[in-house]
Amino acid sequence: MLICSAKRLLGSRSSLAKYRNGAHSKFARHSAVLYPDGRSPAFKEECRFAALDDAGSNFSSGISKWGILWKHRMHSTTGIRLEEPLQKSMTEIVPRLALVPSDIRYEDLVITRSEHIQVKPKLDATTLRFGAVYSDHMLQASWREELGWTAPSIDPLSSVSLHPCAQVLHYAVQCFEGMKCYKGKDGRLRLFRPDMNMDRFAHSADRLTLPQFDKVELLECIKELLRIERDWVPDEEGFSIYIRPLLIFVTHPFLGVCPTREAMLFVILSPVGPYFPSGLKPIKLYVETQNGRAFPGGVGDTKIGGNYAPTLLPQLNGTQLGCSQVLFVLQDGNPGGGLVGESSSMNVFFLIQQDGENRELELVTPPLDGLILPGITRDSVLTLARGFGNMKVSERPLRFNELEGAAENGRLLEVFGTGTACMVQPVMGLVMKDQTEIVVPFNNEAAEYWLAKPPGTAGLPHSSAGEPLSVCGRLTRALLDVQHGHVDSKCFDSTQAV
Ligand code: COI
Repeated sequence: MLICSAKRLLGSRSSLAKYRNGAHSKFARHSAVLYPDGRSPAFKEECRFAALDDAGSNFSSGISKWGILWKHRMHSTTGIRLEEPLQKSMTEIVPRLALVPSDIRYEDLVITRSEHIQVKPKLDATTLRFGAVYSDHMLQASWREELGWTAPSIDPLSSVSLHPCAQVLHYAVQCFEGMKCYKGKDGRLRLFRPDMNMDRFAHSADRLTLPQFDKVELLECIKELLRIERDWVPDEEGFSIYIRPLLIFVTHPFLGVCPTREAMLFVILSPVGPYFPSGLKPIKLYVETQNGRAFPGGVGDTKIGGNYAPTLLPQLNGTQLGCSQVLFVLQDGNPGGGLVGESSSMNVFFLIQQDGENRELELVTPPLDGLILPGITRDSVLTLARGFGNMKVSERPLRFNELEGAAENGRLLEVFGTGTACMVQPVMGLVMKDQTEIVVPFNNEAAEYWLAKPPGTAGLPHSSAGEPLSVCGRLTRALLDVQHGHVDSKCFDSTQAV
């Protein structure tokens, strides 16, 4: 008889996520993969001799119980995945087996449905605050250095209990992601370029010694969570479900600063509306020149909590001057008034009309030089704007003096931020500490014009001749068209149906 806690690993080779309604025990046991050392037939033969005794704790050899082991999910063509107590016994009985830390596998996913399904909140752009409501379930998995990942599970949303010495609480060893899933008019759920989020998540984790994971398999688990929570995904345009994967260094009982030994992964979901209640409502940015967000050789290109906490004080200072966000301008000792960076939760774009005869339009955003978060919306906006065909699109260093000069001559035509949470956020003013302000034009009518365009037309190249200029309005329409499935995504081939 197999021990209870190993049961989650049973099942036919082709079984998908297993449902475990009403189960009381919680599975957080580690598993790893046993591989033969290259002699598969012998391995298969020797497995015949491995079986558990009735107490469920020890293997005894010589009893032909191939059937029992056969029920364990094959990890690959050559491996078997077993839970921790079994692995040790197995490697003792069959010395030629090697223990390999296991990865996250969709096939291992165990699902426990919540018995307390919440009433879904009424979707109203004026009351649904960003990140204030959570769905009923969460995805989780644990990792340990020697053993790798546990089988992932989807469980009712619950609090997490941590030892007070968990490293994440002391040294902020954590990273996270922000992604969105949209429900189209056809009822289908779509993730917007989720492979880019997985790549960035892995990059952030790597920078902090947090564990790597199989990105495709994790994404499959996230999709399962979304399928379970599909009633939570709003279907109105501009609404979506925000997905927050989080990876933290936990419970290794040691206060010294050290690389990650144990970690936990969570994915939670939150239905969200537009960042601002009505259409494209512009905000002001507080220009922060003293407190930096990122610096050369730092971690500005990672999505880690440690990049966000230091933005809170500048944010508070900005709020007192009527600003909703901060624009970080790095004083790097070079002339030109500082290097324009990004906002704490958005990349920033500037539409500048160039001096000279043809008054060319240039859309500029700072380059990915290590100081800037590689935003997925940033990348999408660059691709779309290049496709519009009516402006030069540049990723280049931008000094604050250039912005000031352009504004003085009426050549700073638009400023907007981009991010998963806010999508495209127009800006109407850049406010300095001494309260002087660069006023940025915002043409509401032009933005509304583009928002009202029929699906698929905003993104068409050269379609804007004679139409009012609102790059942020046009980009918003074009992005919504792809995200909600109004048009087939030609430029984002990785937009994924769930
Ligand atoms: C996102 O846009 O996904 C973000 O991470 C912003 C968040 C910090 C509110």
